[in-house]
Amino acid sequence: MPFPETIEKIVSLAKRHGFVFQSSEIYGGAGSVWDYGPLGVELKRNVKDRWWNAMVRTRDDIEGLDAAILMHPRVWEASGHVAGFTDPLVDCKTCKGRFRADKLVDAQCHQKPSRHPGDPGTPCVLTEPRQFNLMFKTFMGPVEESAAVVYLRPETAQGIYVNFLNVQQSSRQKIPFGIAQVGKAFRNEITPGNFIFRTREFEQMEMQFFVEPGEDMKWFEYWKAQRMEWHEALGLDPARLEFHQHTKTELAHYARAAFDIQFDFGGALGSQEIEGIHNRGDFDLTQHQTFSGKRLEYFDQPNNRRFVPYVVETSVGADRVTLALLVNAYREETVAGEEEGRTVLALHPAIAPIKAGVFALVKKDGMPEFAHKLADDLRRRFPVYYDESGSIGRRYRRQDEVGTPYCFTIDGQTMTDSTVTIRGRDDLKQVRIAADQVASRLHELLAKDRPHARIEDLL
Ligand code: GAP
Repeated sequence: MPFPETIEKIVSLAKRHGFVFQSSEIYGGAGSVWDYGPLGVELKRNVKDRWWNAMVRTRDDIEGLDAAILMHPRVWEASGHVAGFTDPLVDCKTCKGRFRADKLVDAQCHQKPSRHPGDPGTPCVLTEPRQFNLMFKTFMGPVEESAAVVYLRPETAQGIYVNFLNVQQSSRQKIPFGIAQVGKAFRNEITPGNFIFRTREFEQMEMQFFVEPGEDMKWFEYWKAQRMEWHEALGLDPARLEFHQHTKTELAHYARAAFDIQFDFGGALGSQEIEGIHNRGDFDLTQHQTFSGKRLEYFDQPNNRRFVPYVVETSVGADRVTLALLVNAYREETVAGEEEGRTVLALHPAIAPIKAGVFALVKKDGMPEFAHKLADDLRRRFPVYYDESGSIGRRYRRQDEVGTPYCFTIDGQTMTDSTVTIRGRDDLKQVRIAADQVASRLHELLAKDRPHARIEDLL
């Protein structure tokens, strides 16, 4: 299904089921800012937890960090963001639209003269481009003066660089090692859009890997491969994932080499960056040394020498991956033997917001009590949704739409032999298992860490 069509359906599904809402909706919305509802917050948290597990918990060479959003303003002078984190902006004097001068094709300014009501032929009258800094500014303390200006961080990476020695010395890590963090970043994008693809407030999952100069390209290749594997293991279709190498003109001011991992969202959006992998050399640490006057060198004890490490960075947007997962998972299917088709979010069970639906077939004969007890039991280990209202078919469809991998139903037979049915979201098969084995079976199925939700393994 092409992207514009899919995205409209996903936006509608996201609102209907409580994944994502427009921020401040009752006031008409805040420009390209979104709120995550009950299911969305679970989904995005699962993405972040999976990243944290892969990058920090299961490795002994990466340490975690949670640095503050507000930093000393000199940080952003040193990083190059005050001078260089800009986009060329043009205004249209007629329609008052604002566009990125380098993205005028997207701006539709010339293509859509109807932006000028009553004068459909008039083309836009554009100002000369001027550089527009993307950082949000605010003031620290009670006085709004230039000396008090601070910025909302436009990337989390700088919090890692300024803490490089704190983390290295307190954790007693030796090079090569990394520091990872997940957190909010803010960019006053000129042309945000496409739902949660490009927003002004978003979350990054960034890791800076500190290596000996000369070893950087080896680690760059290593991290490229690792990160692509991570996306594939999340269930993103490998055919929709690709690397894009930055040309010399595309390279950021800090980068010696860079590859993006792109996901094909389809339609007009097409293949777009979801993660950047950069060889940043010693740019950042050297800049911070110069601007702070403090040494940021690593002391290599065996060789009794000091050096400024090189950095290989992996930087991925939690919101953008979440959107890629929704686009990748969204399906409309016909169901054999049924008139109505179904909409299904075929999410990897590990990131699905709800792991199991528990249903009482009818609201009598002890079934609700049995089902409640089972749901309460499961809830201690998994996010579970209890439902006893409406037709059983409607309840399954509802869970399909939010990506719940497995559903358990308590029916008449349960009351005689203590078995329940388990249904797989993706193969739609049902089998009976003993009620007292539900928790361990569900645990087993989820532990298999497969991107689909079939119950073939139980058959
Ligand atoms: N520290 C390097 C850095 O920030 P970047 O390529 O500018 O690199 C990294 O950003 C990732 O952050 C992107 O691949 C994307 O997933 C996410 N990202 C950047 N700007 C974003 C925005 N306005 N909205 C949502 N995600 C964004």
